[in-house]
Amino acid sequence: MFPPSQLASFQTIRLSLADAPRLHPLLEACEDYFLMITGEGAGPQEAESELASLPPGKTLDEKFFIGLQKPEGKLVGVLDVVKDYPEPGIWYLGLLLLHPAERAKGLGASLHAQLCESLREHGGQAIRLGVLEQNEKALRFWERMGYRELERKPFKAGSLPHTVRVLQRGLEPEKAKGPPLSGGPG
Ligand SMILES: CC(C)(COP(=O)(O)OP(=O)(O)OC[C@H]1O[C@@H](n2cnc3c(N)ncnc32)[C@H](O)[C@@H]1OP(=O)(O)O)[C@@H](O)C(=O)NCCC(=O)NCCS
Repeated sequence: MFPPSQLASFQTIRLSLADAPRLHPLLEACEDYFLMITGEGAGPQEAESELASLPPGKTLDEKFFIGLQKPEGKLVGVLDVVKDYPEPGIWYLGLLLLHPAERAKGLGASLHAQLCESLREHGGQAIRLGVLEQNEKALRFWERMGYRELERKPFKAGSLPHTVRVLQRGLEPEKAKGPPLSGGPG
């Protein structure tokens, strides 16, 4: 599952808890993202916490935390998916985060396409994720990737209350496009 592969000039590899020290600089550089969620930048424990976090009832064997690295090993992006959550066949995408210098160049779309292909090959039926409703750029991105809204939920990070929009996309090629998010429920 997720063997190392090449994406543009980057390599994708599965990360483990031991990679926390080299994940930390990427999370620090993505201060904008953590500010939006918690009101603070990524703290010293954030890398370990991201690498270890699991939905209820899941194990680290079912979590695939993938790094996108430059040839010299510097991480420029990460994605985190968990198998069969919340139901068999559904992969839960907990994080897709690129270094600010690598955004808006089509890398996110390419990484997502590679993820879909890989999950489809392994029998995955759908990808589900949650986006903060104020993350408008990410919502536009997910809409373009073919996701539709399932529901909206309250969510608290630190002291900040949020609303999360839960989105899902089928992995069968013919079901790839859902209706626009703006026309969805909620
Ligand atoms: C969201 C993200 C993974 C998309 O990858 P990308 O390589 O930048 O996206 P692409 O180049 O393939 O597509 C461009 C689209 O990405 C989104 N995007 C661009 N810059 C962005 C940014 N700083 N933050 C969030 N989304 C951004 C927009 O939808 C953009 O389309 P637009 O030009 O119409 O606004 C990436 O921008 C990112 O890491 N953003 C910050 C973290 C984040 O919000 N992750 C999603 C959490 S649900």
